[in-house]
Amino acid sequence: MSQPISKAIVPAAGLGTRLLPATKSQPKEMLPVGRKPVMQYVVEELQSAGLMQILMITGRRKQAIEDHFDADPVLLSALEQAGNETMLAELSYIQRGSRFFYTRQSSPKGLGHAVGLGAEFVDGQDCVVALGDSVIAAEDPAAPLRAMMEAHRALKAAAVVAVEHVPLEETHRYGIVIAQGDELSPGEPVLMADIIEKPPRGTVSSPLAVAARYTFSPAIFEALQRTPPDSQGEIQLTSASKLRIQMELPVYAWLFRPDQRRYDVGNFESYFRTFVDFALADERYGYLARQYIKAKAYEL
Ligand code: UTP
Repeated sequence: MSQPISKAIVPAAGLGTRLLPATKSQPKEMLPVGRKPVMQYVVEELQSAGLMQILMITGRRKQAIEDHFDADPVLLSALEQAGNETMLAELSYIQRGSRFFYTRQSSPKGLGHAVGLGAEFVDGQDCVVALGDSVIAAEDPAAPLRAMMEAHRALKAAAVVAVEHVPLEETHRYGIVIAQGDELSPGEPVLMADIIEKPPRGTVSSPLAVAARYTFSPAIFEALQRTPPDSQGEIQLTSASKLRIQMELPVYAWLFRPDQRRYDVGNFESYFRTFVDFALADERYGYLARQYIKAKAYEL
């Protein structure tokens, strides 16, 4: 029987060009969403899914990521001496038994290239890939990954790729999945017939977009090596997945349930939406945020 997945790769080396100037000197993956940076949500999700070995793919100007997940004895003892239990609890993500590994992608040659840098870390095992600029909102944010990992094991999958519905007029901005058969039920893995990176407008009728969470068998690394760069010089993870479908390997799509939602901070529109929704849902300060927004709505 295959071993449970214990390793995750978190690509976080992209330039974040669409978020300049906010990302001039700080990683987009460290932008705050409510009270935490994006990466902390990602790491807490992985920890809750039992993924304790986490490889971050970083790069230039990404130092803040390492600092955030590094133990800080001076800060901890200051909080202990002050008896600040609340803040100590807020920092518990550092000490949940995870091991953090880092490698640098020196030039941003695409998501596929970034994931490929994890080959030695994964060392022939199945793994999870979780994009560092996307968070899951759900009562249990790790539930989608747990279900995908279970499906991966039970189906002996080559890959399970999370997907979400997007409006048909926006499919040209996403990796689009064509599922086998007509219907894809939430939470039910379905074999993929095809996957297309940013299809030209009006060329696909599937509204299923790749959504930032994946499981892979180790053969993905061979596929990545065989994937040529696209016209922008980037190696796409979607193209490597397509290669595997063409080899008739079992690559599955997994649709989020209605109460689970993927948010990303890739551009200002999605960042603002993400921040507002998380601030409104915050258990400590959400009430104040909701009051403020209500008052503001009268002015608009
Ligand atoms: P994006 O393509 O959305 O990020 O990648 P980007 O390249 O930073 O975006 P822009 O166009 O410059 O604004 C999604 C995830 O993949 C990582 C990013 O850090 C992000 O978490 N990524 C992307 C890499 O690690 N390396 C790459 O070469 C590209």
